Amino acid sequence: MKILKYTMLIMIMMALSWSCQVPNDTGGSADLDSRVESLLKQMTLEEKVGQMNQYNGFYDVTGPAPSAGDAKNKYEHIKKGLVGSMLNVRGASEVRKMQALAVDSSRLGIPMIFGFDVIHGHKTLSPIPLAEAASWDLEAIEKSARIAAIEASAEGLNWTFAPMVDISRDARWGRVMEGAGEDTYLGAKIGVARVKGFQGDDLSANNTIAACAKHFAGYGFAESGKDYNTVDVGSVSYYNVIFPPFKAAIDEADVKTFMNSFNIVNGVPATANTYLQREVLKGKWGFKGFVISDWSSGREMIDHGYARDLEHVAELAANAGSDMDMESYAYVKHLVDLVKAGKVKESVVDDAVRRILRVKFELGLFDDPYRYCDEAREKELIYHPDHMAAALDMAKKSIVLLKNENKLLPLQNDGRKIAVIGSLAQDKDSPLGNWRMAGEDNTAVSFLEGLDAYGVDYKYAKGAELITGPTAFPVELQVNTTDKSGFKEAIRLAKKSDVVIMVLGEHGLHSGEARSRAHLGLPGVQQELLEAVYKVNKNIVLVVMSGRPLAITWADEHIPAIVEAWQLGTQTGHAITQVLYGEYNPSGKIPMTFPRHVGQVPIYYNQYRTGRPGPKNEVFWPHYMDESEKPLYPFGYGLSYTTFAYSDLNVEVKGNNKVEVSVNVTNTGEVAGEEVVQLYINDEVASVVRPIKELKGFEKISLEPNEYKQIKFTIGEKELGFYNGEGKFLIEQGAFKVFVGTNSEELLEGEFVLE
Ligand code: NOJ
Repeated sequence: MKILKYTMLIMIMMALSWSCQVPNDTGGSADLDSRVESLLKQMTLEEKVGQMNQYNGFYDVTGPAPSAGDAKNKYEHIKKGLVGSMLNVRGASEVRKMQALAVDSSRLGIPMIFGFDVIHGHKTLSPIPLAEAASWDLEAIEKSARIAAIEASAEGLNWTFAPMVDISRDARWGRVMEGAGEDTYLGAKIGVARVKGFQGDDLSANNTIAACAKHFAGYGFAESGKDYNTVDVGSVSYYNVIFPPFKAAIDEADVKTFMNSFNIVNGVPATANTYLQREVLKGKWGFKGFVISDWSSGREMIDHGYARDLEHVAELAANAGSDMDMESYAYVKHLVDLVKAGKVKESVVDDAVRRILRVKFELGLFDDPYRYCDEAREKELIYHPDHMAAALDMAKKSIVLLKNENKLLPLQNDGRKIAVIGSLAQDKDSPLGNWRMAGEDNTAVSFLEGLDAYGVDYKYAKGAELITGPTAFPVELQVNTTDKSGFKEAIRLAKKSDVVIMVLGEHGLHSGEARSRAHLGLPGVQQELLEAVYKVNKNIVLVVMSGRPLAITWADEHIPAIVEAWQLGTQTGHAITQVLYGEYNPSGKIPMTFPRHVGQVPIYYNQYRTGRPGPKNEVFWPHYMDESEKPLYPFGYGLSYTTFAYSDLNVEVKGNNKVEVSVNVTNTGEVAGEEVVQLYINDEVASVVRPIKELKGFEKISLEPNEYKQIKFTIGEKELGFYNGEGKFLIEQGAFKVFVGTNSEELLEGEFVLE
């Protein structure tokens, strides 16, 4: 009976469409359009609105719990064809059951699309996105997303709410862990790599999933770094800083969906923002996919003081181009009546439904709605050894060496007495990081396990707990601010050891959604522990685990070796061990400026030029009286166990807005290593004030000792131009500076003039 119904749908569609079967290869877009149109023609208004409605599944809640009564008839609604998508349902058999309700019981049997937050891996977890960004390795990042898609699709999913391409300059904002950091150029490249990884070459394959560029737009600029807070940013920054990663996701990777954001944009919530969604995204940029709201971002417009009630929400959001409603229940409750009352045109609904159906066709869901529901594949692919190996590779590449005085690192397995201190060293959960919705608790290789596997002889003392209460998502964390009873043992151990490895930092749930911090130091009693141990043994290697840049200024002044190890996912312990013991020469570079003090935030390298550039030997210039204006570590910074020398910078204008830059990079140390060669430019005088410098190119290279390579960059129109406040792209003649080097501060400088 069930199969019959689906067969009937296919037959009706075959009869109505020009070609006789639903294609696997949807490359022919005329074909695809005609299939979408023929299906649309058969749909009632209620069924159309149903496609615009998404419900949360029955476990995993990734937003405020809906009020009782909201969508209490989920099953019934699915059967009536009133649900186009589900989120937070996963597992091949679970998805199959749910899909069957739509396919077998609803009149037209239109399959649902199953979305999930597949953010950094699915079951096999790779490093948090900010950490991956520190690798500057686009190939590895694409591979990481590819593997996430393979595992997620094996669990029945066909849509991820990733990548988050929000630029953010505020380390207090917990969601910096989910993005690629502060820079638009790097962020756009990484966003494109991630979309390509998720969507693969053929979206209709059963191991590729639709990606979602989020959150459109400006969410990363929440005032004071407090999640969900007001955003008030000018249009020049929207066009030049915030938009480019979104636009690149369309132009360079054909991203299928967008998610709008919780915040207001120029006073209008993004969900109801016609300028953003209709004029820019679907108009100027020609986006063909669909836009989903964020979790209840529609309903929240009532609290914003923008919508009167839920009916008003539906009217505003639909008219503004928010195609699918996540967890506001506004469309399912009110959109049909709004169309009947003439407040929303049916053509608006049709446009949204076309977009949604199109993606479903492209995913191949009409060929086989159960193509992602294969239990055998699920069994075979989850935690596949190849995925584990790739996660380890990605984790090693994400680590950043921040300081290494007197070559304390790499350590040798040479019989020196090693002490390990810090509760994070034995933690198997926290290093998985936040946004690991499908990740299983305690599945990370802890640092201690990594040492064991490498055969290191060490002694361990916890020193202090970091967290005292439960750590299950989404509870508030209880940080240990009082219990120092473990200090004594840690100090005793440090005294009799040659080297002390201290693993300190944030818990994995200190960052992520709604995890803003007003302090950027080591949480709890960890700073005291560090100082107490330092008093008895200065030979410390500090391994920092964090989901954001931390202001570890005291550590930088006192501790000889510091390694940023973020939250590195499943393979954490192996990755850190292999870096500390020189099996892998660290190559990461921070994608976000580390402040000296939280009071400097937002601090970022590509600031606009001001009328009073410093530093000056007087009072009237932009500075702090009580803190340096310099960061602790600048954007793009990271050391290696070897050293690199830059020389022979050459800059040539080739005409037609094309400039060629070359530089020689030599490995001047004793071991092979990788370097990220970075190119920045500054447009010296422009009709819109330009940043001091902006990243416009990079290349990650590897060099043997004494080897050198000439690296060439071409700067073209895309890099030379900028947008004015009206969104017009301009390339202006005149003088430019060009910088090439190892980070955003240590650079060779050249210049050129565009005639
Ligand atoms: C809210 C988050 O802001 C968004 O990024 C996420 O995809 C949704 N919840 C769904 O979990």
